[in-house]
Formats: sequence, structure tokens, C-alpha cells
Amino acid sequence: LKLEKYKIAVIPGDGIGTEVIAEGVKVLEKIAHIDGSFAFSFDYFPWGCEYYCKTGKVMDDDGLERLSKFDAIYLGAVGAPNVPDHISLRDLLIKIRQGFDQYVNLRPVKLLAGAPCPIKNINREDINMVVIRENSEGEYAGAGDWLYKGKEQEVVLQTSVFSRKGTERIIRYAYELARHENKTITSISKGNALNYSMVFWDEVFSEVGKEYPDVKQYTYLVDAAAMFFVKDPARFQVVVTSNLFGDILTDLGAAIAGGMGLAAGANINPEKKYPSMFEPIHGSAPDIAGKGIANPMASIWSAAQMLEFFGKKEWSNKIIRAIEKVLTEKTVLTADFGGKASTKAVGEEIIRQLSLLC
Ligand code: NAI
Ligand code: MG
Repeated sequence: LKLEKYKIAVIPGDGIGTEVIAEGVKVLEKIAHIDGSFAFSFDYFPWGCEYYCKTGKVMDDDGLERLSKFDAIYLGAVGAPNVPDHISLRDLLIKIRQGFDQYVNLRPVKLLAGAPCPIKNINREDINMVVIRENSEGEYAGAGDWLYKGKEQEVVLQTSVFSRKGTERIIRYAYELARHENKTITSISKGNALNYSMVFWDEVFSEVGKEYPDVKQYTYLVDAAAMFFVKDPARFQVVVTSNLFGDILTDLGAAIAGGMGLAAGANINPEKKYPSMFEPIHGSAPDIAGKGIANPMASIWSAAQMLEFFGKKEWSNKIIRAIEKVLTEKTVLTADFGGKASTKAVGEEIIRQLSLLC
């Protein structure tokens, strides 16, 4: 029997990134061990802010080239109080997302059994959506100008970029997902105020939608959508939106679905021309770094997304169920969920629950 092999580039990064990624790696190793039909190899890259302080670089110059040989990238978090955030973000995360054309940012917003929710009297099943955020252009294209800096006539321009190709492909990806999973699709935009970019977005959404008459289609203005995320999240199943709106809405999504310790995200290059990247959406959390108390559930969930990307949906589902077991039993939880357990203890407990499911 031939063993399938997956080469994973691990970038633990800074702060709690290193702590939570260690648990995710253990979960992946355990699963490969139980399954027996596939194996992982993990190569570690020391990039991030600590590396920047030592070498002057967040990532080596040949970083992308070296990463391109892997099947996936597993990332913790980058960022440190003594390094400006735009340096760590632009020189590593954005470089990888753009360089590898990871134009889909996929973020599940699903309230797991046992997870805390700030909304009163909600049915758990009512929070179960996936947000597809455009990840390569839009408001974060980095286009613009800064004129007459410091002068009286100072002017700044921050230009959004919505290409037909970029807009179509993200919307089509969302339609395909909705069709495949037999779900509704909701486009979130702001065509009443953004009279070029979002009118265009809305047109493309309806044009592409003609090819998907079987998928129930809705559109919302982003401000109304933000309100309904809280008041009536059951309205949303597959959501597709722009880079900026998706960034904001997914933090709101994380807040209604258990908090930062549970929020996972995948940066996907659907054509598989380049590796995709899987990461918890939280940062390096300098306030709790080094104490061994960070919640590893988000990073373990992002490992589940990686398995799903490799076509191993049953394993991905099992990880989610194991996390739910830990959440409902409530005996081994980190401080963000009111517990006293360490990052390691929660990782071990998830692995134990996983073994029980097999
Ligand atoms: P953060 O997500 O690191 O922390 C926000 C709050 O949530 C903190 O109180 C933290 O303790 C808590 N928290 C986050 N993850 C947690 C976990 N797994 N378990 C328990 N508590 C958790 O965001 P913040 O403080 O705005 O950023 C810190 C640094 O991280 C900055 O340098 C920022 O640029 C960077 N960052 C990096 C990201 C990435 O690499 N993808 C994403 C967001 C921020
Ligand atoms: Mg964000």
C-alpha cells in the first residue's frame, strides 16, 4: 500500500503562535497515525518578528520560492509590540497571500456545541455559516497616494481595486460551494454608497448567479448585514464579500461563535498552483504569550480545514466533534473559556477525545 505524503511548511511565528501551532501539529500527527493511509512531514521556518529583530527580515528573500514546494502552510501568528504591525503583516502574511494567489479567505462562523455565545436565547444551529472573503485585491490592494505630506493641502487617496477577473472568481467560488453544499448564498456589499466598486460587485454577483438558478440568492448592504449577524444570524449560510467587509464581519462572526480562541481561517489558492495557508485568525496575543495558557482550539480547527482541503472531510469532522466534546464536558478549558487548563492540556484532551471517536 502506498502512503500518501503531505509536505507541510510550519511557520509558528511569534507569541502564542508557537504555543498553539505545536498542539495542531500533534493532532495532525495523531490522525495520520490512526488512519495509516497518509503521513505528514513538517518543516519549520523561524520567520516572524523575533527573526526580524535578529536579521532585519521578517521572512528570507527566497521565502516564497522555498514555500512553493510544500502542499500547505500552517501558520501561527506574527506580530510583536516592538515591530510595527504593517511591517510584519505586509512582509510575511500579505506577501504569502498575494504571492501564492490565495484569493479565497474562508472562515467558518459556526457555533460549536458547548461554545459560549454572547447572544441571548439563540439556537446553536442558527449560527452556522461560512464567510468567503475576497483575499487578493479590493480595499486592501495597497493602491493610492499621499500628497503634500504634512502641508496644509495634504491629501491621501486609498483606492480600491475590483478587477472583473478577481470579482468573478471569488463570487464563482462561493456559488460553487453553495451549490455543492446545497446552501443559500448571500452577497454583502454597499452599492448605495460605493457607486463604482460595489455597483460592479452587485452586477457580477447577479450575472454569475444566472448560471446557478438552483442556488437561492440574497444580497445585503454591509451595515444591515452587521446588524443581522447579531439579531438573526440564521439568515446566512454561504456569505461572499469583499476584503475589507469580510475582515470586519469575520471578527464579528468570531465574537458570536465562541471568540478568538475558536476562530479559524484558510487562505486558499483553489487551482492548487501554489500552496494554501491555514491559520487561526487571532494574533500573537502578547498579553498572554509565554504563559502556556492560550486556547489552541482555533489553530486545531484550522488544521481541520487543512485536512478538508486535502479531501479528508471525515477527519476534519472528527476534529470538530472532538473539540465539541471538550467544550461540552468543560473539565479541560483554557482561561478564555473560564477554565484553568494549559494550552498543552487542552491539546492533549482534544487528542484523547479524538481517539475515543475512532
Ligand atoms: P490578538 O488576536 O493577538 O489578541 C486579542 C485578544 O484576544 C487578546 O486579549 C488575546 O489575549 C486574546 N486571544 C487571542 N487569541 C487567543 C487564544 N488563542 N487564546 C486565548 N486568548 C486569545 O490581537 P491583537 O492583540 O490585536 O494583536 C497582537 C499582535 O498580533 C499584533 O502585533 C498584531 O499585528 C498581530 N496579529 C497577527 C495576526 C496574524 O498573524 N494573522 C492577526 C491579528 C493580529
Ligand atoms: Mg482581521
